[in-house]
Amino acid sequence: MTDQPYTLLFVCLGNICRSPSAENIMNHLIEQHNLRDQIVCDSAGTASYHVGNLPDRRMTAAAAKRGIPLQGRARQLEPHDLAEFDLILAMDQENYDNILALDRQGRYQHKVKMMCEFCRHHRDKEVPDPYYGGAEGFNYVIDLLLDACEGLLQYVLKTRQGVS
Ligand code: 4NP
Repeated sequence: MTDQPYTLLFVCLGNICRSPSAENIMNHLIEQHNLRDQIVCDSAGTASYHVGNLPDRRMTAAAAKRGIPLQGRARQLEPHDLAEFDLILAMDQENYDNILALDRQGRYQHKVKMMCEFCRHHRDKEVPDPYYGGAEGFNYVIDLLLDACEGLLQYVLKTRQGVS
């Protein structure tokens, strides 16, 4: 392992539902595996509508059912995030395209991946936006993200071993 922590940025549209869930689920796994010093997480939204807000109440309730408290306040993705983070995870294709739109010279494209690439049990290609739907959509987001975060943790550990 190298000394510098590996940094992950989870990105969705509003940064009040999917990406804060991904961030907090990942932090939960990081705590469980005692990797606090080695992997650092943050999240952001491509839009500014909810900047400064707590995670959505419905998302918080769904995460709490799985024993995961949601912490953090929404912030908007900024161009310097692309330079600063080691890996940037987009929840859906629109998020992915909006992230790359901040990278006009294509310097950071290699750092941007779709979150569902890391799922080991689900076949979904995107984490669906639950905002305008019912409680089951929020529960599904948590299940999908638990799967993706476990795969992502294994990926990060493998990647880190490769650079030490
Ligand atoms: P998120 O969900 O991108 O997962 O945080 C949404 C939050 C807010 C809105 C849409 C999606 N909105 O339209 O305000």
